[in-house]
Amino acid sequence: MKKNIIVYPGSFDPFTFGHEDLVNRALNIFDEVVVAVLENPKKDTLLSVEERIEIIKNYFKGNDSVKIVAFEGLLVDFLKTNGLNIIMRGMRMLSDFEFEFQMSLTNRRLFKDFEAIYLVPAMKFSFISSSIVREIASFNGDLDEFVNKHTKEILYEKFNQK
Ligand code: PNS
Repeated sequence: MKKNIIVYPGSFDPFTFGHEDLVNRALNIFDEVVVAVLENPKKDTLLSVEERIEIIKNYFKGNDSVKIVAFEGLLVDFLKTNGLNIIMRGMRMLSDFEFEFQMSLTNRRLFKDFEAIYLVPAMKFSFISSSIVREIASFNGDLDEFVNKHTKEILYEKFNQK
């Protein structure tokens, strides 16, 4: 029998404690979470897809229920190719709603079996975003509340190289 699998797509530039919280919440409902990292040559990311994947692997060391993969192109094509149809996304605040609503309806137009589930992170993570983390890192600020030690080291190194 096919396991109950949910896909968690995103840029994850970088993956934060907020993302980790959502994966752990999804594991209360699903057998497996596939974190699908967008590899988009047109989108300027701070971290390469390899770096983003390495970071996420470090959060879930030894947890076989979390798979981490890269995908290119349309999310629905990735889902169809892998025989999957459910994604999860975080809903932190009202400002997330508009983009998520549009994305869901677009994806369903492209793939009629597409379903999206929205999970609310713990309150203490509801304001964290990858862009805020990048900004703090760029000024050498304290990242302890936002990302794990491994991610922090990669981020500081990235900005010191610049
Ligand atoms: O972390 P993000 O940047 O908010 O994630 C957005 C993501 C990667 C889920 C979305 O941009 C996406 O699915 N991109 C793949 C291209 C695609 O399928 N676009 C059409 C749906 S809007």
